[in-house]
This record gives sequence, C-alpha cells and structure tokens, in this order.
Amino acid sequence: MKVLKNKKTLVDYVERQREMGKKIGFAPTMGALHEGHLSLYNIAKEQNDEVISSIFVNPTQFNDKKDFEKYPITIENDILQLEQAGCDILFLPSVNEIYPNGTEVNKKYNLGFIETILEGSARPGHFQGVCQVVDRLLKIVKPNILFLGQKDYQQCMVIDKMIELLGLKNNIQLVIGATLRETSGLAMSSRNVRLSDGDKQKATAIYQSLNYIKQHIGNTPIATLLQNTKNSLIQSGFEKVDYVAICNAQTLDPITVFEKEMKLVALIAAFIGGVRLIDNMPLN
Ligand code: PAF
Repeated sequence: MKVLKNKKTLVDYVERQREMGKKIGFAPTMGALHEGHLSLYNIAKEQNDEVISSIFVNPTQFNDKKDFEKYPITIENDILQLEQAGCDILFLPSVNEIYPNGTEVNKKYNLGFIETILEGSARPGHFQGVCQVVDRLLKIVKPNILFLGQKDYQQCMVIDKMIELLGLKNNIQLVIGATLRETSGLAMSSRNVRLSDGDKQKATAIYQSLNYIKQHIGNTPIATLLQNTKNSLIQSGFEKVDYVAICNAQTLDPITVFEKEMKLVALIAAFIGGVRLIDNMPLN
C-alpha cells in the first residue's frame, strides 16, 4: 500500500489509473479503524480495481473542540490494518493540504431539512463540516464508488444530498455498508476505544433499546416508546440522551403515529463516560 500525503500526487496517480480504465472505490475515514471500516474495504475490493482510503480527522466537523482534541489517533495500527485489508492507497493529508486557505470556510451546502434535525440540531455546523471535507476529497479522488457506513445513517443521507447538489449523481455511486457490532451488540465505532470496560458493557443498552423499539413499534404508542427508551438509557448509566427518534427511513421526518406502510428507522445519540455514541436500526 502506498501512503500519499500530497493531493497533487494522488490526483496524478488517480488520473493514471483512470487512463488504464480502472474502477476506483473510495472509503474516507477519520482513522481509529475497526472491523466496521475493514468490512467496507472488503466490499470495495470486490467492486473496484483500486481501493483508496483516507484518514483525516476533519476539524471543521467538530462543533465541540474537546471532542476534536480527544478523537482517537492510531495511525500505525490503522496502516497495518489497511495493508492487511488490501487497500491500495492511503491518503493521509495534513490540515493545510485539505484547507490551504484555513478552516474558516465560506461555502455553504443547501442541505435543507436533513441538516436541521437529530445530529444536525445536536451538533450545529457538523454536517456543513462533513460536506466541506467530503466535497474536497471527492474532487481529489474522483471515485466511481464511495463507501460509507450505515452507523452514520444521517451522514449517509447528507452526503447523498451533497452529491446531488454537486451534480455528481451520475458519476459517483454511493454504497452503504452495514453496521458491524461487537458480540454484545455495541455498534463498532472509533469512539469505543475511549470507553472503560464497564462503560462498554453499559453502552450495550443502546442496542437493547433499539431492539425494544423494533419489537414494540406496532403495538405501543410512539411517545411511550421514546420515553421508555430515554428512561432505560439513563437507568443503564448514560449521563445524557441527546435524542431517541423514530423517523421515516427515507426522509428522517420524525413520526408520532405508526404507519405500517412507511419504512422506519430508530436513531439514538447518548453520552456515557463523557463519550457520545450514536446508533440506529431500520425497523421494518
Ligand atoms: O464518518 C466519518 O468518519 C467522517 O465523518 C468522514 C465521512 C470521513 C468525513 O470526515
């Protein structure tokens, strides 16, 4: 695997691959890789000739400075894992390489409703920051297929919308990999390394709550499901619940009354041991 830090070198490399008719798959990450990421490379390898990944802890998507400072960095281990997974290129840029004019950026993406709810309202500016970096990365890598993980359900929708806004729908296919879980049910996440063993165990309450919602969605009022879930997360040791929501899976509109025909997804964000975890589960 080649590790490239300079975007011009990567642009030239990609151009050569394209001239040879190669299909390029791209999985952007912020590092601290886990099996969830690795499963994306497996799919990417099957569907592409070249697999490119990036590790870049993007400062513009952190609305909380402390969260940015504490974001786990495990580059050496990440490189080993990427090599084993058969990744061809790792793009490892500096902040200056991605934001040569500084991180105070003016460009705004008109994401509409999707940016106003859930992660969007709990983390103001977060999705604009995600778009800033993914837009720049896509312009450098120009992939045929972009790979993202379903654990960041809303992020997948936001990036899909951004691809549409950029007029790239015909150029880039978005492939979403399933959420991978520990045997305990805890969704794999880079942030899990910041959890103590005790909190890791308690954090499985999110998965249990999502299952509880899935089991009771048709026969318990939505408001009761949401309240019971919040209560049980707090009882399980979560300090704060940012949201528990049951939404239309296509639009993320929160629903208040169950409709059998509508595809639904339950989403949770909550803090344990000072670490903010998110998870989701399609319900039908
Ligand atoms: O999901 C992530 O790791 C990040 O939000 C992404 C997509 C790499 C953009 O920084």
